[in-house]
Amino acid sequence: MEGPGLGAAVRHEWTLDDDAVFLNHGSFGATPRVVLDRQAEWRAQMERQPVLFMNEIVPQALRESAGILGGFVGAEGTDLVFTANATAAVNAVLSSLPLRPGDQVVTTAQAYPAVRNALRHYCRSAGTDLTVIPLPLPVANEAAVTAAVEAALTSKTRLAVFDHVTSHSAIILPVAALAALCRDRGVPVLIDGAHAPGMLDLDIAGLGVDWYAGNCHKWLCAPKGAGFLWARGDRQDILHPTVISNQYGHGFTAEFDWTGTADPTPALSVPAAIDFHETLGGAGLRARNASLADKAARSLVDRLGTEAAAPAAMRGAMAAVRLPPSAGQGWETAAALHDRLWHEHRIEVPVLAIDDALWVRISAQAYNAFPDYVRLGDALERMGVGSLP
Ligand SMILES: Cc1ncc(COP(=O)(O)O)c(C=O)c1O
Repeated sequence: MEGPGLGAAVRHEWTLDDDAVFLNHGSFGATPRVVLDRQAEWRAQMERQPVLFMNEIVPQALRESAGILGGFVGAEGTDLVFTANATAAVNAVLSSLPLRPGDQVVTTAQAYPAVRNALRHYCRSAGTDLTVIPLPLPVANEAAVTAAVEAALTSKTRLAVFDHVTSHSAIILPVAALAALCRDRGVPVLIDGAHAPGMLDLDIAGLGVDWYAGNCHKWLCAPKGAGFLWARGDRQDILHPTVISNQYGHGFTAEFDWTGTADPTPALSVPAAIDFHETLGGAGLRARNASLADKAARSLVDRLGTEAAAPAAMRGAMAAVRLPPSAGQGWETAAALHDRLWHEHRIEVPVLAIDDALWVRISAQAYNAFPDYVRLGDALERMGVGSLP
């Protein structure tokens, strides 16, 4: 049973529409008032003396913020830089690597479309082969993932890119095991951890990977525009942001800390987001959100007579649940269902076309409670999706 402290009791901390059921924290996060207030303070300070702020305050404040984020994600602040988002962090790594014709890069079919596109772009420019490893749903267990990856690695593999938590299917991939596999074969690993900070207990430096891209604006509830890139010490020299600016040649953190004039307040507000996350329970909140998502997924699976995309052990605060064949298939049908759920039922939840089925991906954040998912099940039933009484 849920304790008294979360769900409806904390929803007022966010500015979400009162009458809506918000089951899509995963797409863009949602930022609580206290963090927005902190960001507003930073902005006010910036606009009182912009030159002093940018030149004198920001460089040090960014490093302090990186140090605090490092403490939260298991990394040294000096190995962390802020980026606009995880996509920018992934692009920075891909654009910096010396890929060559005949090389191979591997990723999985569950990789986020923007990251897949970036891979396609940089591989195509370099004449490098991109191997997309199929991961058919539902994924049975971690061993199925490691076996599929192992089978795809060759003597030509120069980079492997894996999600920590896949986007559409919401599956936690066994990134430490995948990294060990790749390390044995001398293959560097880039992790796309867009969903991980604030959802999973993180020890980035302990994962055995080379680069880790993340977002603070999703599950950590920082303001939008707070992505980051972690690079192992010996993997920093070759890295450059995709925008080369004033600090070119001055080292990893200096180059990324200034990529031209931009709003630094999302990154500067990350410590406030971490404080808020800890106030709500930190590790306890992460465990509670995963268990709420699991309970919700099980109940939807029961009601719909379908399945989740992965076993509970491979899920966190999100779960993808397949809709029955009667829901139809394809992205147009998915978009129509999503829109009906919003306009007719005031429920925001992503409906996704994966392979030849439709899936709903539910999120569980502090402000959610089990009745939210009952409302989703009721709405789907009323719309004729799933078992009708
Ligand atoms: C796995 C994954 N990677 C990358 C991204 C991109 O995040 P952003 O738009 O903040 O760069 C997302 C967004 O949902 C995602 O789910």
